[in-house]
Amino acid sequence: MKVEQFFPYAKPTILQEDIQGVVDVLNSGWITRGPKVAEFEQAVADYCGAKYAVAFSSGTAALTAACFAAEVGPHDRMITTPNTFVATVAAGLLYKATPVFVDIDRDTGNLNVDQIAQSLTYHPTRGKNVILPVHFSGIPVDIPRLEQTISDRDTIIIEDAAHALGSFYSSGFKVGSCAHSDMTMFSFDPIKHITTGEGGMVTTNKEELCHRLKLFRNNGLERDPQYLEREATPWYYEIRETSGNYHFTDFQAALGLGQLQRLDLMIEKKRELVLAYRERLKELPNIRLFTSKEDDRTAYHLFVVQIDFEAYNKTRAEVMTQLKEKGIGTQVHYIPVYRHHFFTENRGDISEYFPNMEGYYSQALSLPLYYDLTIDDVDHIVKTLNSVLVGE
Ligand SMILES: Cc1ncc(COP(=O)(O)O)c(C=O)c1O
Repeated sequence: MKVEQFFPYAKPTILQEDIQGVVDVLNSGWITRGPKVAEFEQAVADYCGAKYAVAFSSGTAALTAACFAAEVGPHDRMITTPNTFVATVAAGLLYKATPVFVDIDRDTGNLNVDQIAQSLTYHPTRGKNVILPVHFSGIPVDIPRLEQTISDRDTIIIEDAAHALGSFYSSGFKVGSCAHSDMTMFSFDPIKHITTGEGGMVTTNKEELCHRLKLFRNNGLERDPQYLEREATPWYYEIRETSGNYHFTDFQAALGLGQLQRLDLMIEKKRELVLAYRERLKELPNIRLFTSKEDDRTAYHLFVVQIDFEAYNKTRAEVMTQLKEKGIGTQVHYIPVYRHHFFTENRGDISEYFPNMEGYYSQALSLPLYYDLTIDDVDHIVKTLNSVLVGE
């Protein structure tokens, strides 16, 4: 047992060859907006089976770009899950769209697709519906079924796949293929499946959306002769909408390319760790796990357990503190988005409408999950969790 070792809830794996790839780019003289960015975009598009991919400075920037590309505006409604990081809705809020939350399914942590279908029948504004499903912890939302419930052709689906690079839908397509959606966003922050330090990407099969994504990334600069009002000259560009600078660098792309090569290996290892957790945790009472039905199609980013802390006569804060003292880092994913001040100030407390999210939130705890973890470490983590819960 490694008493002195600390197990964070997540951590990146960066190899010497990744570092060498970054150094090579820094020495190449082309450090941003260059060929490595294009190579990384193509590699992610190929991996997912999408036509286009556009890289951004962060996942949040990528989501904002997707909203810009889809021309999300003040009359639009963003239908999404409360079980996510605030970035999922923050992007659309910049364009003054209204968030509409639907309750989750406690077996997956994902939004309930039937409830989305219900909320689509309700039209309080003249805008369009923008559905933002989040593949929580990597478990794929049933987007093929969601797609079938949509009859309105103005409705847009932007997938938040920050957790789910490498997961598959029930239809057999990969998340990011956009086989059932307009755009899919990924994040490459330090704890995601692959990291580029900070970074994000949007995949799409639509040329027009790809064009707008690139405009957003580069301050709205239009240089493509087919879109210019005036004759193209070597220095000329036009700007119709301003945005900002959200470029991704070539040295980040080099890191991403190195990581992408090992992605399937990392996913496979995490799947084995999840299986090991499942085996060991089934001995512990008052603990609920997500369904194992999606295991074969899931690239697990987080391993979340739902613990009935009251049954153990402990608070979650006590359990987290004691685990930390024993060298085990944990986290809570997520505080329901509607509980944050930003929303309660405008709408008051709406938690009673989300019984599953509330029940889940009172019990959720993310245990360590990352490539460098071993099955022995999982053994140790589960034993320590048990001893903390039963007060040994
Ligand atoms: C579900 C989800 N959406 C969006 C984001 C934002 O990504 P980034 O941190 O790269 O801006 C994150 C990152 O934590 C996330 O987990």
